[in-house]
Amino acid sequence: MKPVRLALVGATGLVGRTTLDVLSEWRVPLSALRLFASDGSAGREMEWKGRTYSLERLDHAPADVDAAIFATSRAISLEWVPRFREAGIVVIDHSAAFRMNPDVPLVIPEVNGDALRRHRGIVSNPNCSASVVVIPLAALNRAFALKTVVVDTYQSVSGSGQDALAELDEELADSSHAARVYPRLIAHNVFPQVGPFDDQGLCDEERKVVEELQKMLDRPDLTVFATTVRVPVRVGHSAAVTVECGQPLDRASVESVWLAMPGMIYDPQTYHTPREIAGRQEIFVSRLRIRDNDPHWLQFWAVGDNLRKGAASNAVQILMELFRD
Ligand SMILES: NC(=O)c1ccc[n+]([C@@H]2O[C@H](COP(=O)([O-])OP(=O)(O)OC[C@H]3O[C@@H](n4cnc5c(N)ncnc54)[C@H](OP(=O)(O)O)[C@@H]3O)[C@@H](O)[C@H]2O)c1
Repeated sequence: MKPVRLALVGATGLVGRTTLDVLSEWRVPLSALRLFASDGSAGREMEWKGRTYSLERLDHAPADVDAAIFATSRAISLEWVPRFREAGIVVIDHSAAFRMNPDVPLVIPEVNGDALRRHRGIVSNPNCSASVVVIPLAALNRAFALKTVVVDTYQSVSGSGQDALAELDEELADSSHAARVYPRLIAHNVFPQVGPFDDQGLCDEERKVVEELQKMLDRPDLTVFATTVRVPVRVGHSAAVTVECGQPLDRASVESVWLAMPGMIYDPQTYHTPREIAGRQEIFVSRLRIRDNDPHWLQFWAVGDNLRKGAASNAVQILMELFRD
């Protein structure tokens, strides 16, 4: 990879800090690094690889940067990503702001890395729930043609950012604490709502899972149902997935397709939990079940680190692809 001059916007957040970890762990060659955060953090210092960086306020698109990773809110991305692009900076955006824009590739490199060739200055990183299921689904789609996908998620609190994690800790410490970030208490609880509901009763995350899977798999015709549930887990999203394929399946064929698929680990012997896989880059797939009386249908369990493959490490993979030698 060519050395890159990188701006990281939202450097102090959960995704921003995980991005710094991944950049360091993977020894990504950066010839310059600029770190941006909110006005409240501007001027504070952050350490990265033994150097001290001063956090900058987002009031300009820097002139001396090749690429930017945006790990902030949708509203900030809507305002600032176009300005960075106009300054000639390639932007990888974590927010939902541009994901469904037809001119913006929505990329998991193992699934649709070719789409990066069509970028026009912005690449979107997918939603963290879609990221956990799309790799095993892409393998099934290529081999057996998906017809119907039903995704039920169990999403961790870090998926909502640092304020939500603080809220979980506050509720655990004080049972009289009132919900502030979430619509209900999250400690010792689960609720089937991730984001606001629309007029058809889907919450924001359910709509994202449906639309983003269709886009990444290049299957706008695919029938997808999603129920997205928040659970009191700190890191790691899980999903129970039910799939109908266009042709009958047998265990050996599905297993060989999954074992050959990059970016995922299939294990027929056990299952994985968020606690065990936090910090890992891969998606972990287990509990394959093929329906006895109709082998067009199968079920599986998938778990992934929402801050890594669901966000930071996928974006760094995209960066490395974009600046490959
Ligand atoms: N968390 C996940 O698992 C995940 C997965 C996929 C995608 N995403 C998306 O990634 C983005 C970041 O998520 P997160 O979980 O890292 O959120 P977070 O922990 O709440 O961090 C938000 C970051 O945005 C910064 N920020 C706030 N206002 C700003 C401003 N006016 N100018 C510049 N920076 C500002 C914050 O800086 P301060 O510290 O100074 O406030 C902080 O660095 C969101 O769009 C989210 O939907 C998150």
